[in-house]
Amino acid sequence: MFERLERLSPDPILGLMAAFRADADPRKVDLGVGVYRNDQGDTPILRAVRQAEQAMLGRQTTKVYVAPAGNPGFNQALERLVLGDDHSTLTGGRVRTIQAPGGCGALRLGAELIRAADPAAVVHVSTPTWANHVPLLSGCGLKLERYPYFDPATGGVNFSAMLAALERLPARAVVLLHASCHNPTGADLSEAQWRELVALFKRRGLLPFIDIAYQGLGTGVAEDAFGPRLFGAELPEVLVAVSCSKNFGLYRERTGALLVINETPAAAETALTQLVRIARTLYSMPPDHGAAIVHEILANEDLRAMWAEEVAAMRARIQGLRREAVEQLKRTCPQRDFGFIERQRGMFSYLGVDVEQVRELRTRHHVYMTDDSRINIAGLHRENLEYFAKAVAMALTGT
Ligand code: LMR
Repeated sequence: MFERLERLSPDPILGLMAAFRADADPRKVDLGVGVYRNDQGDTPILRAVRQAEQAMLGRQTTKVYVAPAGNPGFNQALERLVLGDDHSTLTGGRVRTIQAPGGCGALRLGAELIRAADPAAVVHVSTPTWANHVPLLSGCGLKLERYPYFDPATGGVNFSAMLAALERLPARAVVLLHASCHNPTGADLSEAQWRELVALFKRRGLLPFIDIAYQGLGTGVAEDAFGPRLFGAELPEVLVAVSCSKNFGLYRERTGALLVINETPAAAETALTQLVRIARTLYSMPPDHGAAIVHEILANEDLRAMWAEEVAAMRARIQGLRREAVEQLKRTCPQRDFGFIERQRGMFSYLGVDVEQVRELRTRHHVYMTDDSRINIAGLHRENLEYFAKAVAMALTGT
């Protein structure tokens, strides 16, 4: 049977992670996989997570299954974190949530729900989008198309092209949006642009599928959820895929959820029955640990305050690094304007070098980034920033 299988090349992001780990050069710089790092280049467990974990482990008395939709306390806490405490969809009972194995699990559950409702549905993703969106969403058989998004000339969003493309979509077309910290470009929609979009979605009858994977790492915890909050308040149906990997630092615990906002509580409940069935056929039930930690943190005033401080520190560090990277690059590459890096948000930016230069940076300077020149800003720190800026200058000038 398995002799027939074709050997596949590694995933572009995870393959890079493995190549970096195997590189023995002490100067190596990891700007590949989207993992937050501190000034020492480490990804430590958040203090709030550590404390929540200890409190919770001491109290847990069983390992019996949680529930088909996961931990109800976690689901409710996450709804409030994403939508805000008194959001009209919550007071109106129009939201149902299923815990998922990470943001990826949530995205796949959402795609499967769309396919169950309409096997011919088309999902439109931004150009570019996170590499794994494509297999995650199309893997269940949904058709994928693209809409224009990033403008390399400005480093921002080509909003008029985006609007024009979405305006042409038929009713019930699904549009995947990044709530904040767009992966891979760092180019986010402004509040005014979200408002224009919601009017378009309403007029055209489009279904938004919002991916929120970096809440708190862009502008602020509430600010980064502006899109889902506005869309939820204004539209009858919205899907929101939530990841706790980055903002809680729970990467390996696979912690996330899918929120379904529907027109009525009964319709939301129906969608949840479908989701529970879909999860049952894929992996039965989600893992407990990460969700239990997040629930513990969000339900406890002190831990929640500690977490909010830690997220704010991550955000401030990323913004600081963005400023410093621009400063350093200005000195080493005066011929080129890297100012867009400071205007963008979240962990990623496109450096804007070609694939040969990316390879040169990797093989000659041990600076790792994906082939499209996406850099994880959080992988920079005081020790490697100057080295990085010099390596970029050498790659750009061919010296
Ligand atoms: C990334 O974009 O690097 C992260 O979201 C990690 C991943 O799974 O690709």
